[in-house]
Amino acid sequence: MGMPVGRHTSMIAVIGAFAGGSSTFRLYPTRRRFILTPSMSKQTLPTMETLVGFCKRKGIIYPSSEIYGGYNGFFDYGPIGAEIKRNIKDAWWRDMVHRRDDIVGLDASIIMHPAIWKASGHIDGFSDPMVDCKTSKMRYRADQLFFAPVIVEGETIGYVCVLESGGMQAEAEAAAEKMKRKLAKQGELEPIKLKDYTAAREDEYARIPSPATGEPGSLTAPRDFNLMFETNVGALRDAASVAYLRPETAQGIFQNFKNVVDTTRVKIPFGIAQIGKAFRNEITPRNFIFRSREFEQMEMEYFIDSDDATWQKVYREWLDWCKQWLLSIGIPEDMISEDVHPPEKLSHYSKGTTDIMFEFPFGKQELWGIACRGNFDLTQHQQHSGKSMEIFDEARKQKYIPHVVEPALGVDRTFLAILTAAYCEDEVDGDKRTVLKLHPRIAPYKVAVLPLVKNKPALVEKAQEIYTRLQKRWHCAWDSAAAIGRRYRRQDEIGTPYCVTIDFETIEQDNKVTVRDRDTTEQMRLNEDALMQFLSEKLDV
Ligand code: GAP
Repeated sequence: MGMPVGRHTSMIAVIGAFAGGSSTFRLYPTRRRFILTPSMSKQTLPTMETLVGFCKRKGIIYPSSEIYGGYNGFFDYGPIGAEIKRNIKDAWWRDMVHRRDDIVGLDASIIMHPAIWKASGHIDGFSDPMVDCKTSKMRYRADQLFFAPVIVEGETIGYVCVLESGGMQAEAEAAAEKMKRKLAKQGELEPIKLKDYTAAREDEYARIPSPATGEPGSLTAPRDFNLMFETNVGALRDAASVAYLRPETAQGIFQNFKNVVDTTRVKIPFGIAQIGKAFRNEITPRNFIFRSREFEQMEMEYFIDSDDATWQKVYREWLDWCKQWLLSIGIPEDMISEDVHPPEKLSHYSKGTTDIMFEFPFGKQELWGIACRGNFDLTQHQQHSGKSMEIFDEARKQKYIPHVVEPALGVDRTFLAILTAAYCEDEVDGDKRTVLKLHPRIAPYKVAVLPLVKNKPALVEKAQEIYTRLQKRWHCAWDSAAAIGRRYRRQDEIGTPYCVTIDFETIEQDNKVTVRDRDTTEQMRLNEDALMQFLSEKLDV
């Protein structure tokens, strides 16, 4: 909706278009004016602090184990958050699996044979470089710690060190200026060129200050830290009983590849999709649910022929599909972009990887990775298990191990992107309101039913009747407490797209209800059948 809408003319057009008849308006509260809610743009992004506080207050996301002081890197989804999360997964599954003929689903176990992680390379190589501060006992990811020499007139007078962030360059420059002043050095400060700690030379480790203490001499050299959580399976706790919580859902798909081929009618090209928990012992979980230690992934492995033309075409098609899908659930186009990994940063088996980046409140970061993994995983499993992963190509009369294109997306990261884009503060009639402009597919409740008063049995009964009818189709909220304006605000805050109010006129005169639109706050009167038709067109998208 790009313009403020005139009260009568345009609303009648809306009613005519959606409900097949004209009507009058009943406006609650009566003193109101149509206002334009600002569309999300970079300028209006909420801060992380705002989002975290909002999520807690509204029962969306809580810190895990809060009564015991919380547990770093783990989160719980409250009643509203659980609905939103389920809707994200349902939307993905429906579009990725149900609405396509070439993709089937899978639900593999979280703990799998440890040999899988040997074959996939996770036991030997799934690590992040870690660095410790010996004084503060703080631990950092070396690739998220940035340092630079401070050089004045060719002389290195010290080092600055900052944690990765959108403002780290400015932060490092300010620290360098401060150092120059403190040491009373005259002359020009050379530009600060930040590098991550993995690029530090051995002789620099002792000179780079710890971000915790500000003093040099306490940071260790980086060393590899495997991110997999270990557990033991069976009664004995020894080396032979060690198993892992899966760090990605993808391997569950690869190890079942032959099962799916042999037991279903799939033919190359085809995909296997899975949604499920993944666990990573992240060194520095941060930015709320963006990087946590327990999260959910929605991954799909698309198996294809091995020739170059095919993978390049399929790769591009999946990139486009993924972007379109994000738009279809309400992510604004101007908040996403592509980050193509340069060849030198690709794994040895990868032919190409592009991340779809999102404009989070803390900067542009990876949301969705689309990787061409070649036939590395299936080949590894063939070698380690001794079981063939080949399929027979009828046309060529030849066996081969298929290649794969993998779109891998985090549910929680998608949740955070959706929240960032949907969170909005605006004004209605001079009153500030918070509104979550969620896409109807994602909204936790699709409709709220509000009896205008709760002490008039006939009115409440009618409202209950409508509520029951609506509940058969959509997840609905019932709210009969407090003034109508407050109830609207409550629904706006949790993103309910439509409120349906039953008033005295409904039961005494026309049997019509008032439907209020969350984003525009416009209201219109509809009879029950028109209401069902209107909501169906708006919500079943
Ligand atoms: N199978 C490939 C794979 O797992 P990845 O880039 O490591 O690739 C895929 O993970 C997606 O999972 C990421 O793009 C991100 O959305 C999500 N993800 C990864 N680590 C995460 C974490 N610690 N917390 C939340 N989401 C995470």
